[in-house]
Amino acid sequence: MLFSPYPKTRREELFDREGELKEIEEAVKRGERLILLLGLRRLGKSSLLNVALNELPNPSIKVDVRKTYSEFSSVNRYIIGKMLLSAMSGKRKLLKEAKAFLERVRGITFSGIQVEISPGDFSITELLEALNDYGENAGRVVIAFDEAQYLRFGGATRYDGILAYAVDNLENLTFILTGSEVGLLFDFLKFDDPDAPLFGRYHHDIVLNRFSPDMSAEFLRKGFGEANFPVTEGEIEDTVRELDGIPGWLALYGYIRVTRNLRHDEAINEVLGEAKSLVQTELSRLFAYSPRYRVILKGIALGYSRWKDIKDYLTLKLGHINDSNFSALLENLVKSGYVEKKEGEYTIPDPVLQKVFREL
Ligand SMILES: Nc1ncnc2c1ncn2[C@@H]1O[C@H](COP(=O)(O)OP(=O)(O)O)[C@@H](O)[C@H]1O
Ligand SMILES: [Mg+2]
Repeated sequence: MLFSPYPKTRREELFDREGELKEIEEAVKRGERLILLLGLRRLGKSSLLNVALNELPNPSIKVDVRKTYSEFSSVNRYIIGKMLLSAMSGKRKLLKEAKAFLERVRGITFSGIQVEISPGDFSITELLEALNDYGENAGRVVIAFDEAQYLRFGGATRYDGILAYAVDNLENLTFILTGSEVGLLFDFLKFDDPDAPLFGRYHHDIVLNRFSPDMSAEFLRKGFGEANFPVTEGEIEDTVRELDGIPGWLALYGYIRVTRNLRHDEAINEVLGEAKSLVQTELSRLFAYSPRYRVILKGIALGYSRWKDIKDYLTLKLGHINDSNFSALLENLVKSGYVEKKEGEYTIPDPVLQKVFREL
């Protein structure tokens, strides 16, 4: 179903993104080793990734790093190793074929089809080497880390170094990393830092954009058609105006409207309500870290767009803050993708979140 509110996995459920799918497919075929899928939350990165992995002839493994981090509060080598293996366990054929290689990795033991890691001497690098050896015959192995910026919480496990080693030496592996928090992802990968392991490494960036107004309208028409749910052209236009071309919001609107049989204005309100609770969860860590984030977001959502005006608004609400502390907070919001900076002006790029932030 086009309006299903979960990341898609099959081609038939994915609207458009033909170009991006082709780009991924060709990059893997060419033997590129590092592909980045970038874009705001809810633009469909996970969906695109899932479908691409499904369509590729290559063996593939995916780890949702954000989910892993929120579940274990850590992404150390043992946890990520476990997640990689459990992703493989879901794929009988891959596990069976790769078994002979994986058995050689220290710390990994098989009993039947069960596979375990003992924390002691397990190394992610050895696991990747084993997958690379497996890929020698099985064909390039694709390893995907969804929301890879969370790999920065690896503690003693330095994933940037591990990735650099793999990209340089393990020729049968391709890594696909997605990131909603594009600034944080680049901060972590440090391609431009001469002292960092990934310095100067080639990476193929695929940036997901929102749907154009025409595409958004087409997406809605197709979804409502599929559900046999009558809507007017006026409602479609209004929805695109309110929610912009962000597939996650468009799909949610359609889903809510169809499954709860709501009127247009009711469904729009419900989307805003859902967005509000989503934001509370997504931003709770940030808000717990500093209450100023909340006020900064509100100020920008209300239309304060210059550095000075936002700072004045914050000072008025919460008292004095020095320039560099303020800049750091603002910069973090830009890196997380919630705020966009263009020609010296700060804005909230997602119109739905802008409405939500106004009421923070
Ligand atoms: N191209 C698309 N076609 C259909 N639904 C989509 C598409 N892109 C995103 N969606 C829907 O939007 C929501 C957000 O997509 P998701 O893949 O989770 O985005 P991201 O990983 O970028 O945050 C999901 O409910 C998904 O089903
Ligand atoms: Mg995602």
